[in-house]
Amino acid sequence: MPQHIAIVMDGNGRWAQKRNMPRLAGHNAGMKAMKEIIKRASSLGVGHLTVYAFSTENWKRAAEEVNGIFKLLVFYVDSELAELNENNVKVKILGDYRKLPALAVEKIEGAVEATKANTGLQFNIALNYGGRDEILRAVKIICTMVKDGALDPETIEKKTISENLYTGGNFADVPDPDLVIRTSGEKRVSNYLLWQCAYSEFVFADALWPDFTPEEFEKAIAEYQSRERRFGGR
Ligand code: IPE
Ligand code: IPE
Ligand code: MG
Repeated sequence: MPQHIAIVMDGNGRWAQKRNMPRLAGHNAGMKAMKEIIKRASSLGVGHLTVYAFSTENWKRAAEEVNGIFKLLVFYVDSELAELNENNVKVKILGDYRKLPALAVEKIEGAVEATKANTGLQFNIALNYGGRDEILRAVKIICTMVKDGALDPETIEKKTISENLYTGGNFADVPDPDLVIRTSGEKRVSNYLLWQCAYSEFVFADALWPDFTPEEFEKAIAEYQSRERRFGGR
């Protein structure tokens, strides 16, 4: 079983378009799909599930869509928190979520706080997350330590960078993803976990995210399990 599965939940807009529905209906259906995947990941004993919920580039979309996504998030955090706790799920956030509307920030921090003692699946939500932003932020943290005399530049290692990413030991403490799944047939990284996915296996599914079922999730895991990981060795 992969220790960490990261998902690019893509295709909500196209799912809605196909049904002549507003894009937000697609995002709502996407939230429902996500609930089912969390439950399955939890029962399969996956250590970490990370979902790409909103990228640093998604602000380019219409304000109506952006605000609608945040409203859905508030709604689902409220309605799902009890069940997350029942399932022993611990919620963490990757990204600059403090730039979200105040109510969303409040709910998110509430969910992180309310689930922090849970010991089951760690569910990481990449929210206002961008891989390049994350690396830039780590560089700034490290530079500040150097400037303050707390760190000798000669001692900077790969680990120093890892530790200061959102996924690092100083923050959400998430191992590198073993498996990255992207739905909707798109085959690109879109600024997701750039440093962390150096040796991840990628599975691309054609299903649009709202149609992605726990069964397909298990198929992606089986595909991962059939791969031979070499990490550059022979
Ligand atoms: C993914 O679905 C969800 C977010 C980016 C928030 P999209 O909204 O990107 O759906 P498509 O790619 O337009 O179909
Ligand atoms: C990636 O999907 C971001 C999320 C799923 C949140 P996008 O739909 O934003 O990516 P592009 O624009 O197709 O690369
Ligand atoms: Mg998309």
